[in-house]
Amino acid sequence: MSVINVSESLDVRKAFSNFPSGVAGICAIVDGVPKGLAASSFTVGVSLEPPLVSVAVQNSSTTWPFLREAERIGVSILGAGQELICRQLASKNPDKFDDISYISTDGGAILIPGCSLWLDCSLFAEYPAGDHAVALLEVHGADVHLQESPIIFHDSKFKSLDLAGSR
Ligand SMILES: Cc1cc2nc3c(=O)[nH]c(=O)nc-3n(C[C@H](O)[C@H](O)[C@H](O)COP(=O)(O)O)c2cc1C
Repeated sequence: MSVINVSESLDVRKAFSNFPSGVAGICAIVDGVPKGLAASSFTVGVSLEPPLVSVAVQNSSTTWPFLREAERIGVSILGAGQELICRQLASKNPDKFDDISYISTDGGAILIPGCSLWLDCSLFAEYPAGDHAVALLEVHGADVHLQESPIIFHDSKFKSLDLAGSR
């Protein structure tokens, strides 16, 4: 057995990438402009009462300072086949929503059609965490799309659930 040295960030990233996750589009309309980023650090079940989810955002993000001011923040768990949308949300392009179709609520939360789960959230708390900030989001509404299979992000690659093998 060889334990990799996590003293270099590349090694940490490689080790962490072996944990499979979904990918969330964290998106909202802020001052009339759609803003969003892709996040694989998203987790559900932080708390059930009140319902809380979390996301870790890089301190270098230029989009998060806008999102954190939004009245409501939409979380779209991206579906299989939405890898391009993920890459667009992850880009530094200021017009990243030009080719993304979306629906928004009165509160400004953005829903991306084709996602497997959509949550209508607001910022509950935010904590510094090294080179990231951990944001807790309170969930006010949810829309489950069981027919859409979520993207799996594992080993820095986009993968899909093998539904045929589910038990
Ligand atoms: C699959 C994937 C997962 C990502 N996960 C995160 C994440 O959990 N947290 C984060 O801050 N950025 C994450 N990113 C990067 C952001 O989506 C994005 O690159 C960055 O926020 C865009 O820059 P901006 O915030 O300056 O617009 C991820 C990117 C990809 C492609």
